[in-house]
Amino acid sequence: MSERTLWWKDGIIYQIYPRSFQDSNADGIGDLAGIVQHLDYLRELGIDGIWLSPINPSPDVDFGYDVSDYHTIDPKFGNLQDFDRLLTEAHKRGIHIILDLVLNHTSDQHRWFQESRLSRSNPYHDWYIWRNPAPGGGAPNNWRSMFGGPGWEFDEKLGQYYFHMFNKHQPDLNWRNPDVRSAMLDIFRYWLDKGVDGFRLDVFNAWYKEANLRDNPRLPGIHRRPFESYDHIYDVSQPEMIPALQDIRKILDSYPDRYVVGETFLADSAQARTYIGSDRLHAGFDYGYANSPFSARAFGKAIQYWDGLHGDQAWPNYFLNNHDTPRSSTRYAGANDDARLKLLAAMHLTVRGTPYLYYGEEIGMRDISLSRGQIQDPVGKRYWPFDKGRDGCRSPMQWDSRPFAGFSPSQPWLPVHPNYKVRNVVNQASAPASLLNFYKSLIALRREHPALHAGKLILIDVDDDALLVYKRFTEDETMLVVLNFSKGLRSYSLPIDEYNNWDLIFTGNEPLTSQMTDSTLNLPAYGVAILLSRAT
Ligand code: NOJ
Ligand code: CA
Repeated sequence: MSERTLWWKDGIIYQIYPRSFQDSNADGIGDLAGIVQHLDYLRELGIDGIWLSPINPSPDVDFGYDVSDYHTIDPKFGNLQDFDRLLTEAHKRGIHIILDLVLNHTSDQHRWFQESRLSRSNPYHDWYIWRNPAPGGGAPNNWRSMFGGPGWEFDEKLGQYYFHMFNKHQPDLNWRNPDVRSAMLDIFRYWLDKGVDGFRLDVFNAWYKEANLRDNPRLPGIHRRPFESYDHIYDVSQPEMIPALQDIRKILDSYPDRYVVGETFLADSAQARTYIGSDRLHAGFDYGYANSPFSARAFGKAIQYWDGLHGDQAWPNYFLNNHDTPRSSTRYAGANDDARLKLLAAMHLTVRGTPYLYYGEEIGMRDISLSRGQIQDPVGKRYWPFDKGRDGCRSPMQWDSRPFAGFSPSQPWLPVHPNYKVRNVVNQASAPASLLNFYKSLIALRREHPALHAGKLILIDVDDDALLVYKRFTEDETMLVVLNFSKGLRSYSLPIDEYNNWDLIFTGNEPLTSQMTDSTLNLPAYGVAILLSRAT
């Protein structure tokens, strides 16, 4: 392999929502020991790292994204010994562990906040964003909560308001207080010393607010929610963020091969890119790609833009799914047909960048639908039925056809999708044409070819709107990827001076596979063709 192998760069990262992966003690909630049971499955799938959604103690107002202690493990998930075991067992298999750090806010049950609200003179008071009412009474400014309602909550006893970007049980920390900043940096050291390989930073660009908490300007027009009626120039993306990331990166760089990826909040791709670089984040998430409609043009545009923003200086990251968005299977495909999902998998695993997979994506798990009474997510509780929240994509992993899909012997915290008897890991592992086997073979191909895991990318301009075509290449290897986004047959003429140099090495495993005749590639509906150049 000509390029240096760096696990997070060449590899694939798999996100686990721990509540929903595997329950090992029959309480209906997934846990760390459950994850250990499936490390061999993940190794065979071929992933290189796991991002664990938060595992710190949490009262679960926002299921782990409201942390009440940063230094230990939620007893629902196990304890520090279980975590050490997970790390050791993962590392034995070449799998890295990335923790989700939620440092914008804590739970209101966190000891710091409990102290903070005791009195204005308490040493922790200034750890959160407390303000007196506005001169005429009411909230200190016009900031809203992303989860609905005002961003400010009044505390009768103190006669002050505290700010919360999300739920009122998730008070925002005051990063401008040097004690908070240094406590936050210590959290990184604490987990690095335990041996974790990296972090995913939750809504990191919201950590700093404008010093005077100025009102956000109103946007013209009518918006779905009041939160969207403002231009969020003062509550996110403040310049103080960059030095904070630089300090974090210095800490990470004092340990070998560590990685930090950030989730930007209310930022476009260009803004997100400003946080990535050799002295800040290794990578960030791009919503342009994840939110594309199902079209070759739209994905091509998103890839070209995000890839171009990175250039040679940085390495892109791509995701189609996470714990906040309806699954790509539900957004792009019918209930039972996985052809489109195979096409997307082929794109996702062959563009330049680190692919993120979300548990169950590899078997095409669909979102569950819930009645009002079954909703767990605070967003769904507040906005039902206009927004049913994020529970749909968080249902238990479908391992096999036993009751509750082998996730747990007991009633799980969220219902299992009714399709689990057919759509599960065991069934798909033994069906050669399954989505799972498609993922496995593509991941193996990606691993084998430096052009695919480490090469540059050039999009090829094509006349046919249904086709997405790109080259991946290193100094020693060139590959061509041709993807048919239409439900009809399509053909693609290879560049005339090149066509006799190509070998068709991957066509997927649909019954009607892509074929090459002379200079023309024929692709079935949603067909995939990956070619390897014989010349360099
Ligand atoms: C972003 C996380 O991805 C989401 O799940 C959470 O609700 C908010 N941040 C608040 O932490
Ligand atoms: Ca459990």
